Amino acid sequence: MRLSQCHNFHDFRRLAEKRLPGPIFNYIDGAADDEGTYRRNTTAFEDVDLVPNVLAGVKDIDLSVTVMGQKLDLPVYCSPTALQRLFHHDGEHAVAAAAEKFGTMFGVSSLGTVSLAEVRKTYKNPQCYQFYFHKDRGLNRAMMEAAKEAGVEVMMLTVDSITGGNRERDLRTGFSIPFKLTLGGMYEFARRPMWGINYLTHEKFALPQLDDHVDMSGGAVSIGKYFTEMLDPSMTWDDVAEMVDFWGGQYCLKGIMSAADARRAVDIGCSGIVLSNHGGRQLDGSRTGFDQLGEIVDAVGDEIDVIMDGGVQRGTHVLKALSMGAKAVGLGRYYLYPLAAAGQPGVERALGQMKAELERDMRLMGCRDVSELNRENLRFRGSSLAG
Ligand code: LAC
Repeated sequence: MRLSQCHNFHDFRRLAEKRLPGPIFNYIDGAADDEGTYRRNTTAFEDVDLVPNVLAGVKDIDLSVTVMGQKLDLPVYCSPTALQRLFHHDGEHAVAAAAEKFGTMFGVSSLGTVSLAEVRKTYKNPQCYQFYFHKDRGLNRAMMEAAKEAGVEVMMLTVDSITGGNRERDLRTGFSIPFKLTLGGMYEFARRPMWGINYLTHEKFALPQLDDHVDMSGGAVSIGKYFTEMLDPSMTWDDVAEMVDFWGGQYCLKGIMSAADARRAVDIGCSGIVLSNHGGRQLDGSRTGFDQLGEIVDAVGDEIDVIMDGGVQRGTHVLKALSMGAKAVGLGRYYLYPLAAAGQPGVERALGQMKAELERDMRLMGCRDVSELNRENLRFRGSSLAG
């Protein structure tokens, strides 16, 4: 199977599975507990139908949006994800460069494998910094200062990961950073020699956002252990309010689900919230961003940018979220499988397909620009009301 044979999310996923050692593929592909929320993230979009209007004069389509002060050419962006150089040796560079070509935002994670300052210097498109709130307050300060100095546009604090989700696939494979190979794991790596060669012949694995502050030499840690031991479960709204003030710019909370929390985010001065369940990787059984969108947009949509992520595999999924009132939509696995499958050309192909789908689907919907999408375009099965 080749890149040219990848026509959708599922094709890219299959190619990524062929290229990656099992433990790494399953780290991306897996989720918490029974992975019910992970599945629901995508099936939620099937509970609502699009109602097109025809003969609308849709020769030119404008997909641009402005979100958290950033003008994006597409209503989707590459959500920050961890450990990208593990999936492909170009890692964050491949994703940032592909996002730049499509004029959209990308994220660099606290657990990113390339320095956020280096990426900020190299690419021109808006960058958000996915932030984890560590027990060590000095580390939090230092990380924010580094991001400020680098000129990162948007701070994105993840609030749904103060303890590790129960990722049973990772327990089975022993996935950890850096690798601690179990016997079964070694077999999996031996089956993917090209991945191993690339990994060993490129820049040594590192977590530059943390390396100056955290001693990772003490052995491998699982992601769950990192969350549980390093992140601060006692973090409160007061702590975040302080960070919002300190940052003094675009500040967004990722992992909001309730209307009450959305209201608090407005009250402490956030400019955006991302309705997200972390790709189903944290609280299994949690509601999905799409299911919850109507309630949150009704509560705070006039005061703050409401964004959603989770399960997005198609242009029509994005159009449904935008019709409900989302300002933009985050992509995760949608670009990670292409990254693993083929590096930058893979991510570019996936974003190109998303753009083509969005343009085609906007035409078929009879909409010229994103602001024309609204709940009149939607009908929920089993109920007459959109939200
Ligand atoms: C994960 C983190 C690191 O979901 O975002 O694995």
